[in-house]
Amino acid sequence: GKGNYRHFMEKELHEHPVVIGETLRQYIDSTTRRVALPPLPFDPLVVPKLTITACGSAFLAGLVGRYWIESLARIPVDADTASELRYRDPPLPEGGAALLVSQSGETADTMAALRLLKGAGQSILSVVNVDESSMARESDTTLLTVAGPEIGVASTKAFTAQLSVLACLAIGMARARGTIDAAREAALIAALLELPSDAAALLDDNATIQALAVEVAEARDVLFLGRGNLYPIAMEGALKLKEISYIHAEGYAAGEMKHGPIALIDPAVPVIALCPSGPLLEKTASNLQEAAARGGRIMAFTDAEGAPALRRFAQHVIVLPTVDPFVAPILHAIPVQLLAYHVAVLRGTDVDQPRNLAKSVTVE
Ligand code: M6R
Repeated sequence: GKGNYRHFMEKELHEHPVVIGETLRQYIDSTTRRVALPPLPFDPLVVPKLTITACGSAFLAGLVGRYWIESLARIPVDADTASELRYRDPPLPEGGAALLVSQSGETADTMAALRLLKGAGQSILSVVNVDESSMARESDTTLLTVAGPEIGVASTKAFTAQLSVLACLAIGMARARGTIDAAREAALIAALLELPSDAAALLDDNATIQALAVEVAEARDVLFLGRGNLYPIAMEGALKLKEISYIHAEGYAAGEMKHGPIALIDPAVPVIALCPSGPLLEKTASNLQEAAARGGRIMAFTDAEGAPALRRFAQHVIVLPTVDPFVAPILHAIPVQLLAYHVAVLRGTDVDQPRNLAKSVTVE
């Protein structure tokens, strides 16, 4: 049941800390504090290409995985939604591998992509939440997320669990390839293991997000911006807002804004930016300043170090715990999902069963 929560989605949002912790426990050896993966169906040292595919939020988790795997493990990655990949006919190298991501393990397009990739000789690795699903059965190896059943149609805890697995996978493959040194690996593991308490702290402070939600609930359109591994989280924020509050939202790479979307900017369009401190903050901040100069109402998620620069022009600066930039997408996913939840509640929509949507999309 929902316990003391109003909706399954609210309950599931509050399960982020536990689910992240349980999932990490599965893939990080607690004594050695090193990533311990089951044998992979391919050798990371020689695999020529990894094709990542999925649908919806699971695809956005896969996109974050692409940033992680490319930057840490230095493996070329192609990432595309399953409905596109199926008909795109991309060249698939001999000895290549595919990575599928799915909460249900039953999504029709992802299953079709799996069979196509398998037929083309790719080894199949999947990140799935349901052990006895079709996808887990037909994959060569499955890395299970430990999210427990997810009832709300909007994916929440399954998403951060997917990210947790993908982060471990990237670190594990980087070690196998010798593209990460022991000190960096230890720092990343430490950052991951901090996440459950960071996430819990975030969830304790509902008031900040609720205040934002009151403003966002009035909007007809919302723009979410991010760069690098936070770009997919900007898209996740937009997807979640669309599906449960029915407000039009777009997730955009911050640097792309001046190539079109900036024309939309006026005080009625909230611009929600994901911009923790790190090498990309200055770039994103300058994009935001351009939006602010055109009357844009900026709501920026950052950390203590990033806050002062953003306060000069942003209407709202939300300070999250400071984390290693590598794990920032996992942390930032939580407030954007929470925001969507509170906006939907204010608008009185059917949060757990949004119109026209199904939990598991088993038709093409
Ligand atoms: O079960 P799956 O993870 O394969 O589902 C994929 C998408 O249908 C799913 O993530 C969908 O986008 C969610 N409703 C997003 O919140």
